[in-house]
Amino acid sequence: MLKLKFTERTDTRFGTVNWDKLGFGRYFADYMFVADYKDGKWDEGQILPYGTMEIEPAMMTLHYGQTIFEGLKAYYTVDGNANCFRPDMNAKRLNVSATKLVMPQFPEEQFIQAIQEVVYYNRKFIPQKRGESLYLRPVMFGSSNLLGVAPSVEYKLIIFASPVASYYEEGLNPIKIGVSDNHVRAVRGGLGSAKTAANYAASLYGGMEAKKKGYSQVLWLDGVNLSNVDEVGAMNIMFVVNNEIYTPTLDTGTILAGVTRNSVLKIAEHLGIKSHEKVLSLNEILTALNEGEMTEAFGTGTAATISPVGALSYKDKEYILNEGKIGEISQKMYDTLLGIQYGEIEDPFGWTIKVNL
Ligand SMILES: Cc1ncc(COP(=O)(O)O)c(C=O)c1O
Repeated sequence: MLKLKFTERTDTRFGTVNWDKLGFGRYFADYMFVADYKDGKWDEGQILPYGTMEIEPAMMTLHYGQTIFEGLKAYYTVDGNANCFRPDMNAKRLNVSATKLVMPQFPEEQFIQAIQEVVYYNRKFIPQKRGESLYLRPVMFGSSNLLGVAPSVEYKLIIFASPVASYYEEGLNPIKIGVSDNHVRAVRGGLGSAKTAANYAASLYGGMEAKKKGYSQVLWLDGVNLSNVDEVGAMNIMFVVNNEIYTPTLDTGTILAGVTRNSVLKIAEHLGIKSHEKVLSLNEILTALNEGEMTEAFGTGTAATISPVGALSYKDKEYILNEGKIGEISQKMYDTLLGIQYGEIEDPFGWTIKVNL
């Protein structure tokens, strides 16, 4: 299984990890994968000790923002190995983002091999507690040292790892979200469907304002008319009305095609729960809330898997969902996803790639 050149480190970062208080993205595991793109092609890449890199001030990505990334997890399974969850989807999405930002495609097979080796070499950093995991962060950026707005000619792809607890301090507890009616994250024809730094930079101000008002996430509306629902923070959003799931369509090109979103829709189909992917206006959502037809809403994303929404706020009015409790469908999705990820239940979809530790 191991194919890549490996450089062993003489020290370890293991002792720096506070295993009782992992948090999210605070600690970094010993090894990373690094590949370089030069003269029109990627090299094989190699496993190196995680650490600092030297960059020049003229490195293009610092100025023109040609950087894309991914986020996926490896889970410690009940049989003492690790499951990577749908890395093929992340490989594909990375290439979708690359196309949007005029960056080179990275071969899917090479990506999956690199992910497996990063998990294997960092095996002692995979937390064993349920709910915790090894978060994997692939990042690709333009590394040429040149000024002038143009695509970089050289690139780097790095995959590093971080042992993490659940993303939200609330765990599976319902979160409060606030609709932003003055800031937007992405517009049609823009970069909304790419996982690129610009979208996260655009979300910071609105996110800060929402936090000040006591909401943990922003529900973003479309960037043109501020009338349709896009996504929530770093998650896709789903609403349950009359026991059917409604989620914004990917056709607008303004939201990220979440791997968890896709997984929830597949699980729903498997369970016989009807789902609808369509343009959803905020008006429809508020009407369904007012009339008591909406029984649940939840965010979907790798970091938190499922985040039930307990309250939604718009223009100083707060709507409480399901008495602020976790709904039946949210709970079912959470249990099914975690069951598959930790190898506790059969994976009828063939989603997991096992790494023997
Ligand atoms: C903006 C945004 N939307 C949605 C998602 C959910 O995607 P996934 O389920 O692949 O983690 C993420 C997280 O990666 C995100 O950053």
